[in-house]
Amino acid sequence: MAGFLSEQNVMWRDRARAVADKVVRPLAAKYDELQEYPWEIRDALAEAGLMGVWIPKEYGGAGGGVIDLCLCVEELSRACGGVGVLYAVNALGSFPILVGGTDEQKQRFLPGIAKGERLISFGLSEKYAGSDAGSLHARAVRDGDDWVLNGEKKWNTNGGAADLYTVFAVSDPNSKSRRISAFLVEKGTPGFRIGKVEDKMGIRCVPVVELHFENCRVPAKNLLGEAPGMGFRQAMQTLDRARPGVASQGVGLAAGALEFATVYAGRREQFGSPIVSFQMIQAMLADMATRVEAARHLVYAAAKAVDDGAPNLSKLAAMCKLFATDTAMQVTTDAVQVFGGYGYMKDYPIEKYMRDAKITQIYEGTNQVQRLVVARSLIKEAHALKHLLDYIPKEVQQGYNDPDTIAKRTETPTGAATS
Ligand code: CAA
Repeated sequence: MAGFLSEQNVMWRDRARAVADKVVRPLAAKYDELQEYPWEIRDALAEAGLMGVWIPKEYGGAGGGVIDLCLCVEELSRACGGVGVLYAVNALGSFPILVGGTDEQKQRFLPGIAKGERLISFGLSEKYAGSDAGSLHARAVRDGDDWVLNGEKKWNTNGGAADLYTVFAVSDPNSKSRRISAFLVEKGTPGFRIGKVEDKMGIRCVPVVELHFENCRVPAKNLLGEAPGMGFRQAMQTLDRARPGVASQGVGLAAGALEFATVYAGRREQFGSPIVSFQMIQAMLADMATRVEAARHLVYAAAKAVDDGAPNLSKLAAMCKLFATDTAMQVTTDAVQVFGGYGYMKDYPIEKYMRDAKITQIYEGTNQVQRLVVARSLIKEAHALKHLLDYIPKEVQQGYNDPDTIAKRTETPTGAATS
């Protein structure tokens, strides 16, 4: 893996690992218990220059790529899954500006985010619009020099802590493909307030809240991009770039849980021997490690594809998200199993990995949605594979469409031989 990463990649990974080991790991249990935003961790991340790794240098960032972002998320998640997403969600919130913002908007908003002075969040989901992201209800109506926002957003990660919100709303209900626009809404804008703060199973150090907009006036210059109607596309392009980050959260959680399980298995004695000497435990650890390594490679490949602007990046981003986060769930669950009864108890650090892992299969698109994205890409790509039909017998190809075959099939009693 080392040869696959550049010097720059390794530098960011090591910097994130240092913050994870020195600052995040000792505080993880405390903030999980408190369910409060860990400002001291944000400060350490900002001091290490990690908050703008993925932001181009001309907008005050470090000029790294999605691969650098992923390496940082992985290291942080290895110590705490909540901190992994707390960090990654700033990338999710700022990607719409990077993919769809004007130069003026990039100059205005990105430097503060890159320094860690401003946190940002991504407001797409609603109570009745989760997987079906196109069916939003929140409304944006143009009025003079402003857009007026009304409606609610659900599952807003980083909400309350963030200073800036990328909010998606319906600006043209009569349009099919230009229905939604994105807006940059600043904390404190009249008519914008934080609603319910969720009490969560995992990732408890990062707030997840509802956003409420009641006649909230947003200046026209905060409409993302040059023209309205680009919101759905901007959201999808954002998710293509952000999903490798969630996948890295999965890799980090799985890798961190595996490390704990291996160390514990070396210490825990049963039947007069450390349990790591038992082949059943060895097989579990070997399977866990193999899955982690496979997921890691897929995530790095997808992140590089995003950085290179590869044409199949939606498919790879979806694949790595679904594979790495399913891996996280499986490996963290197995790690709890290795700890046995102790693993189920809050005195031990391992149950938190399992709780933190679950959400990774759900947010930034459920893993069912990822499978849908992958399958749609495969179906599109199959158009270029028509030559393979030459190798499939004609009668099978015509099968159900051929009137003679249909007639024969109807005449044949079920179970009778047809040849
Ligand atoms: N890039 C660019 N454009 C895209 C695109 C992409 N990846 N995917 C779709 N589009 C365009 C299409 O070309 C199409 O354009 P036209 O109308 O001009 O033809 C348009 O968008 C509509 O596309 P689809 O017909 O494919 O859209 P759909 O309604 O079938 O939805 C979907 C597709 C994949 C299911 C999508 O709705 C989706 O990704 N849903 C999941 C939403 C999601 O991930 N939410 C997560 C919220 S964020 C979060 O969870 C953060 C957190 O807490 C940390």
